Amino acid sequence: MGDKQAVEEAESTSGRDRLKRDFEILSVEKLAKSFGGLRAVSDFDLELKAGELVGLIGPNGAGKTTVFNLLTGFYKPTSGVIRFAGYDVHGMPPHRITEYGMARTFQNIRLFGDMTVEDNVKVGFHHRTCYGIADALLRRRAFRDSEAEVAQKTGELLDLFSLADKRGEPARSLPYGEQRRLEIARAMAAGPRLLLLDEPVAGMNRSESRDLMALLRRLRVEFDLTMLLIEHDIKFVMDICERIVVLDGGEIIASGSPAEICSNPAVIEAYLGSGGSTPGGGGMNASR
Ligand SMILES: Nc1ncnc2c1ncn2[C@@H]1O[C@H](COP(=O)(O)OP(=O)(O)OP(=O)(O)O)[C@@H](O)[C@H]1O
Ligand SMILES: [Mg+2]
Repeated sequence: MGDKQAVEEAESTSGRDRLKRDFEILSVEKLAKSFGGLRAVSDFDLELKAGELVGLIGPNGAGKTTVFNLLTGFYKPTSGVIRFAGYDVHGMPPHRITEYGMARTFQNIRLFGDMTVEDNVKVGFHHRTCYGIADALLRRRAFRDSEAEVAQKTGELLDLFSLADKRGEPARSLPYGEQRRLEIARAMAAGPRLLLLDEPVAGMNRSESRDLMALLRRLRVEFDLTMLLIEHDIKFVMDICERIVVLDGGEIIASGSPAEICSNPAVIEAYLGSGGSTPGGGGMNASR
């Protein structure tokens, strides 16, 4: 390839990347959720550009998981607008939102404990397979082809998540850190464009969380992913996120780069008030 052609190709690729990154994949306006008299989330606005990696932090009970439950259809918003990939997904059931390309993990790991590691990942492919019940019953070609493809892609994900040697074991027998990785692998099987991670390194030791950080960075590039992650391990958030949104009492109290968040007086006050150390001071619940 000549130099000129190489430069032109590189330029057009970066142009595409720029376009892709400018695309607003998630737009949330004035989202609110009340449980009886409790306003768990109010006035929540968020815009994510394709490819961004954003952290959602805040003291216990701030409303972080509630935001995830609203975005993914597990809770119906009391009010507000959620647009994902250009579609109004407000009030849609979780499986429809997954079909649009949003997948998540849970704060309290939700795996099928008695099923094998491999089958847990296969379940994640479920909505992408497009054969009918009759095909499955008669084991027609569409079903067989699809099963073969799912088996192959499951194998690739298990390799990527270093779980291949555990494929035949029941999920509940895995150590905690591996269960967390398996949950992310299953979420990836849904083929997401936006991945929501609720406390992905909770219960992991330093070396496990460092490995997971490297893996998330890799996933982001290889799968063109946008990520929103909740985490109490402030060091992890500061190291991996480009932008951080801070919730307290259901409302956004700050938003900005890791450096801006560390020195924001409202954030420091929220963390000190909750009995935790400050974000800049090494982390609230950093050992969780
Ligand atoms: N299904 C529910 N019914 C009633 N109240 C709820 C429900 N879900 C959440 N809440 C309340 O909403 C508030 C926000 O909870 P949420 O779980 O979103 O906080 P969080 O920021 O994720 O906290 P943590 O860091 O402890 O996980 C809390 O007061 C919680 O008790
Ligand atoms: Mg939570």
